[in-house]
Amino acid sequence: SQKYQHLLVESRNQVGLVTLNRPKALNALCSDLFTELNEALAKFDNDDGIGAIVLTGSEKAFAAGADIKEMSNTNYIENFQSNFLGHWTQISKTRKPIIAAVNGFALGGGCELAMMCDIIYAGDKAKFGQPEIKLGTIPGAGGTQRLTHAVGKSKAMEMVLTGSWNLSAEEAERAGLVSKVFPADKVVDEAVKTAGKIAEHSRPMVQMAKEAVNQAYELNLSSGLLFERRLFHSTFGTADQREGMQAFIEKRPAKFGQK
Ligand code: CAA
Repeated sequence: SQKYQHLLVESRNQVGLVTLNRPKALNALCSDLFTELNEALAKFDNDDGIGAIVLTGSEKAFAAGADIKEMSNTNYIENFQSNFLGHWTQISKTRKPIIAAVNGFALGGGCELAMMCDIIYAGDKAKFGQPEIKLGTIPGAGGTQRLTHAVGKSKAMEMVLTGSWNLSAEEAERAGLVSKVFPADKVVDEAVKTAGKIAEHSRPMVQMAKEAVNQAYELNLSSGLLFERRLFHSTFGTADQREGMQAFIEKRPAKFGQK
């Protein structure tokens, strides 16, 4: 983990844990931080010993957004030519599941980063918001898209148009943005526990299931159902499917991972 300037990286059994660690700027997502994050996630994605990933920040802030100081002096043509924020989409290409364990502020790009993950667990004092409108800009990494899918149009419009960042953890759970809320000091351990459970399942099945759920955001219903059914059929070409069903019949735990 020493090689990263803005991250702490460790593994706990089969779970990769990435902690955003730029406390002086409340984990504002500067370019260097994002480059490191992409690298750390890609490493875990390619590591056979890892089955799922947890991404977290500090108790005060998951992340307070894109780095406003870094952004403030850039202009249109620079951002267009560098495709600014384009490299953020790499996160959502990670094939292993990522659980965001969110404490404190998840604002702007911080909220968007959490939404690029597959599951969001929140500490009871977490605050979600898209305050970009107050800065004279709009969300640029999913705040108008993933948020609308997650919480519906009315809440998304309210957050994006007013810039109020007071969607509490409880409200976020009620709206479907967050799957569970825990006391702040428990959320990382709970996320690691859930990631550990996921990591015990068949790796390819977990990845296929993630791909299939994600298609629900891309395809119409009949295409999505067909995509799902064909993947389901393909699971019958694997040793893990035979082992999983045989283990059930023999009333023993399954041993996944044979080729
Ligand atoms: N970028 C750069 N620096 C940031 C930052 C950000 N997004 N958020 C906080 N910081 C810095 C502050 O400038 C401050 O640094 P200094 O000590 O050098 O002044 C330090 O972090 C601590 O912050 P505060 O003193 O402001 O802490 P606070 O507890 O009083 O307030 C806060 C916390 C309400 C989160 C406040 O920091 C804040 O409003 N931050 C900005 C939130 C925001 O607007 N995010 C959206 C960014 S735009 C974006 O993300 C675009 C996109 O869609 C990708």
